[in-house]
Amino acid sequence: MSLLPFDEIFQSKFTESPNMTWTYGQKVESTPAGRAWMEGEKEGWKSINTAEEDRMKLYTLMISGIVPRPIAFVSTISEEGIENLAPFSWFNMVTNWPPMVSFSCSNGPSRIKDTTHNVKNSKGGFTVNIISEPFVENANATAIDSPPGFDEWSLSGLTKVPSVHVKASRVKESAFSMECELYQAIDIVHPDTGERTNTLVLAHVKYIHIRNDVLNERGLVDLTKFKPVARMGDITYARVGDVFRLPRPTWAAEESKVMEAIHQKE
Ligand SMILES: Cc1cc2nc3c(=O)[nH]c(=O)nc-3n(C[C@H](O)[C@H](O)[C@H](O)COP(=O)(O)O)c2cc1C
Repeated sequence: MSLLPFDEIFQSKFTESPNMTWTYGQKVESTPAGRAWMEGEKEGWKSINTAEEDRMKLYTLMISGIVPRPIAFVSTISEEGIENLAPFSWFNMVTNWPPMVSFSCSNGPSRIKDTTHNVKNSKGGFTVNIISEPFVENANATAIDSPPGFDEWSLSGLTKVPSVHVKASRVKESAFSMECELYQAIDIVHPDTGERTNTLVLAHVKYIHIRNDVLNERGLVDLTKFKPVARMGDITYARVGDVFRLPRPTWAAEESKVMEAIHQKE
């Protein structure tokens, strides 16, 4: 595959949404782009019974379809004090109150990942750091299949900052870091085969550290400065492209328009 150079001066722009004049009930086919999208359906569907599919094929298919995924860059520490760093993209926010995030670690047939071990066994807590474009190579390198107990900080070129509440360090280069305590580690057991394949970590966020220069005047993270990266399928990452805003409809303001659209259809 021939690659274009990385566009260092790229900035996400705020654009119009795909169909600015959309009204309640309007069909996707009503615009040229929507029609072209729905044309694709003529190719038919491939439906997969997961019970009959190879697990690696499910992995490659699911990580290509469930996109884009944010990435938790997780710093943990073992009971013996050995630090560890690794990325996990089966990650998201669970709730703001209590502030909580989740990530999921797969277990190999013969060993569980250092991150899983440390999160479960060390009582000291861990940090979840968000990755920005300027250090994505550093972060990717920590996913190396090193022997158990290897401290990936040593190869990453990244800098440890002592946390205020937990034992594990946070990543200095990350503009948004969370100090977390384990809320619950749920071992995922396959309902049909009984295999213990994964551990879902629910983490209580105790502290959040945000670099001032990525904050806007409202105290929120400005994505054009933050430059977060996402994980796509295979070994593909993505940067955030152009963005658009859509107001959240409220029943109080929209009821008459909704009703009109429904009655027009009848
Ligand atoms: C961007 C990225 C995302 C990843 N996401 C996950 C994930 O969600 N779950 C998982 O088990 N492994 C994931 N991995 C693989 C782990 O990072 C890798 O197995 C790592 O070596 C685990 O390190 P540890 O044994 O030190 O905990 C991911 C790797 C990369 C590069």
